[in-house]
Amino acid sequence: MTIHEKLQRLEEMGREAQEGGGAERIKAQRERGKLSARERLDLLLDEGSFVELDRFVTHRSSDFGLEEKKILGDGVITGYGTIHGRLVFAFSQDFTVFGGSLSETHAEKIVKLQDMAMRNGAPIIGLNDSGGARIQEGVVSLGGYADIFLRNTMASGVIPQISVILGPCAGGAVYSPAITDFVYMVRGTSYMFVTGPNVVKTVTHEDIDMEGLGGADIHASTSGVAHFARDSEPECLESVRELLQYIPQNNRETPPSASGIDPHDRKDEKLLEVVPDNPNQPYDMCDVIRRVVDDGEFYEVHEKFAGNILVGFAHLGGHAVGVVANQPAVLAGVLDIDSSDKGARFVRFCDAFNIPLIVLEDVPGFLPGVAQEHGGIIRNGAKLLYAFAEATVPKVTVITRKAYGGAYDVMNSKHIRGDMNFAWPQAEIAVMGPKGAVEVLFRKEIAEASDPEAATEARIEEYREKFAHPYIAASRGYVDDVIDPRETRPRLISALDMLQNKRDENPIKKHGNIPL
Ligand code: HXC
Repeated sequence: MTIHEKLQRLEEMGREAQEGGGAERIKAQRERGKLSARERLDLLLDEGSFVELDRFVTHRSSDFGLEEKKILGDGVITGYGTIHGRLVFAFSQDFTVFGGSLSETHAEKIVKLQDMAMRNGAPIIGLNDSGGARIQEGVVSLGGYADIFLRNTMASGVIPQISVILGPCAGGAVYSPAITDFVYMVRGTSYMFVTGPNVVKTVTHEDIDMEGLGGADIHASTSGVAHFARDSEPECLESVRELLQYIPQNNRETPPSASGIDPHDRKDEKLLEVVPDNPNQPYDMCDVIRRVVDDGEFYEVHEKFAGNILVGFAHLGGHAVGVVANQPAVLAGVLDIDSSDKGARFVRFCDAFNIPLIVLEDVPGFLPGVAQEHGGIIRNGAKLLYAFAEATVPKVTVITRKAYGGAYDVMNSKHIRGDMNFAWPQAEIAVMGPKGAVEVLFRKEIAEASDPEAATEARIEEYREKFAHPYIAASRGYVDDVIDPRETRPRLISALDMLQNKRDENPIKKHGNIPL
């Protein structure tokens, strides 16, 4: 064979590898509102940047007639490319090839990519669309999953790992995305569950469809498994690109800074009006965040899950930051099981990847109730406390209103290594709110009073005067300054500039034992 004939063969094989499961199956994929595995990579990565690896890999199985059915690539496209000019590794499962099921070789391709991403310190993004373990390969495919899980675990906290679910993701296969840092889903076409509707029906007699059991909205709002639910695949993939603007390539890098035009010294008059005069009236903390960060842009994570805490990314004076904020508009911003869990995981991501934390605090305490106590609010609340306490990135808090009880300690207080802690003049920092405190301290006196209501009011007023302000904390240095709310942005930027070279570390240990 001449070199030209050899080149022709290469070209033909290349074309065959591009075809995946064939035109018919790709058409069926489209009819379901799904893009092909290659189209997805095209949308995810910078144009023309994708370099494919292992396109000639085929499976090794001969069972159930598989020997005659070999398709180049074996159901997963792997390679590297760039997003906003920065290197990422990506794989895209191809449902048109054996239902995107994971064989020994399919797993090997993903494992190779994981190893390369680790060696080269770049994020890895998995586009999942798979019927799970390839049934014909039995335990070999289960082993392939375990090889992937191990690498997911080793890569955790070293390189960012992102999972995008664009079709089925069922059985044990869900545990790879579950270990990764962020899970994206698309409404109507993606679902995740350990056991599907049929098994659920047999075991528990519950009738439910795929979307109801494990669709995007359920996982983004109820289970918290997904961090993002989007309406279409293009929107979802664009959203992944956006996320990467805030995070570094690996745990040894700092996150990318932005060069926006929002002036660093911009003051916002509206911040004076955000907190209502009535301390029991809610307001939207999202409004505060958007008024403070660069260009009002807040990339919210877990938007629909545990809405009483807000977490997400933004830039502040060009610095990428992770924002954690109580949300008084939902359950008065109280901390409960889900919000503690959500906050803790986000704080740990930011800490692992050198992203400074900005905490906006308005928290009346932990949510009381039998369901919370029996559900483990002690164990779960401790996660958030632990996460803030162990974090060594720059940590800056602004108390906008309430900072009551244990929640004061938890929300990045000075005592657990908050670097700069500010309070607005409306801040109320005390063991508990005025009404609760008066009921505990003066129950007898109030019961015996000729006008119990007036007696309660008088004591509440007295308590407010004594405790419901930031100046006791300020007099002890527990807050570094009481600031004009309008100056929040410049003060935060100044703090972040000052903390740029912060050094702090935890004692040497194998790992801590966060209460999981
Ligand atoms: C081999 C598979 C497959 C699999 C699908 N296919 N799943 N081949 N192994 N796991 C094949 C089908 O035979 C079919 O081939 C093609 O892919 C498309 O599948 P359909 O069933 O026609 O598609 P659809 O109707 O959309 O249904 C999709 C599905 C269903 C819901 C995912 O295929 C399904 O239930 N698959 C099995 C799911 C499962 O139980 N997997 C194992 C989970 S346990 P043809 O040639 O006919 O087009 C697991 C363990 C992980 O994954 C271990 C980790 C610890």
